[in-house]
Amino acid sequence: MSFSRKLNILGIESSCDETSVAILVNDEVKSNLISSQYFHKAYGGVVPELSSRAHLQMVKPLVDSALQTANLNLNDIDLIAATAGPGLIGALLVGLTFAKGLSFSLSKPFVAVNHIEGHIFSGFLMEQKPEFPMLVLVVSGGHTLLLYVESFTKIFLLGTTVDDAAGEAFDKVSKLLGFGYPGGPQIETSALKGNEKSIKFPVAELKDEYNFSFSGLKTSVLRYVQNNFPDRKIPESDLNNISASFQKALIDALVQKVNLALNNYEVKSLSLVGGVAANKKLRNEFNNLAEKFRISSVIPSIDYCSDNAAMIALRGFQLYQNGNKDSLNVAPYPSIPENYFLKLK
Ligand code: KG4
Ligand code: ZN
Repeated sequence: MSFSRKLNILGIESSCDETSVAILVNDEVKSNLISSQYFHKAYGGVVPELSSRAHLQMVKPLVDSALQTANLNLNDIDLIAATAGPGLIGALLVGLTFAKGLSFSLSKPFVAVNHIEGHIFSGFLMEQKPEFPMLVLVVSGGHTLLLYVESFTKIFLLGTTVDDAAGEAFDKVSKLLGFGYPGGPQIETSALKGNEKSIKFPVAELKDEYNFSFSGLKTSVLRYVQNNFPDRKIPESDLNNISASFQKALIDALVQKVNLALNNYEVKSLSLVGGVAANKKLRNEFNNLAEKFRISSVIPSIDYCSDNAAMIALRGFQLYQNGNKDSLNVAPYPSIPENYFLKLK
């Protein structure tokens, strides 16, 4: 479906610890405001009840500021999109209910968006868009998914993690090294000062060719620390070497599977998305892979890697163009429903 004039889309994201509101005109971002709940750091992870309360405080002011930045009024909005899941139920409920309330009071259509689909298509926020079919690796705090994406509506799951997500592994190793939460950026900074070849951490070889496993890697880092630093006092140079070696092992595992998929499936683009896609070494390795296979590499800018409402508004727009509209009875959901993605074969 195409529309005679451009649509003003309001997107709301509140699935975890970022409240975000964005305004798009079709696929062009006019504003994308993100309020991160840094206070969770003190607890070593996200506290759901505190998260919900902070979303509640932030959502209305962010909607007002996003409209102001985009130079629009509420009455100019043509379509409202919000994350319905997966995520923390209490957190999701805030953004979703606010969006439904706006849809009802403005009499404008509402589209419920799957957060992971928001990440999958976030490459389309960039000037250079991916082309179908594309291979997408989603790496976030809660998910590690390798997908073959044929179109805006045909998403095939090739593999996923059998235990920890990639971001979760960064966060857990960070905690055991004493860096705190979130772990990815701190491990990355420490790794820059270390030697990635100093320690050989093993990565699980799985029978299922495209699946990942990171809990063994996390355990081997723990064993290394227990054996070499029983009092947990780790000199900075050792911390840096552990960070660099862990990061290399994890990235090697990701690259190995993507390389295998690129050998087996002919695609036009390779896209890396989700919070862990902010990692510079991983971004470089993906660009190298795409170059090797002579396909385009689309990695969103950092603001569109971590949780943001621009990707939610964009996915809402894509679904609406496809004829989708949701009732105001849509309920939030905590995890991806079983068999949500298609299976090849
Ligand atoms: O997509 P995201 O913002 O939230 C979820 O939907 O989970 O991803 C957050 C995850 C965290 O685990 C965080 O440690 C990781 O992304 N992360 C990174 C980096 N920046 C964030 N991991 C590795 N390197 C980074 N630079
Ligand atoms: Zn996310």
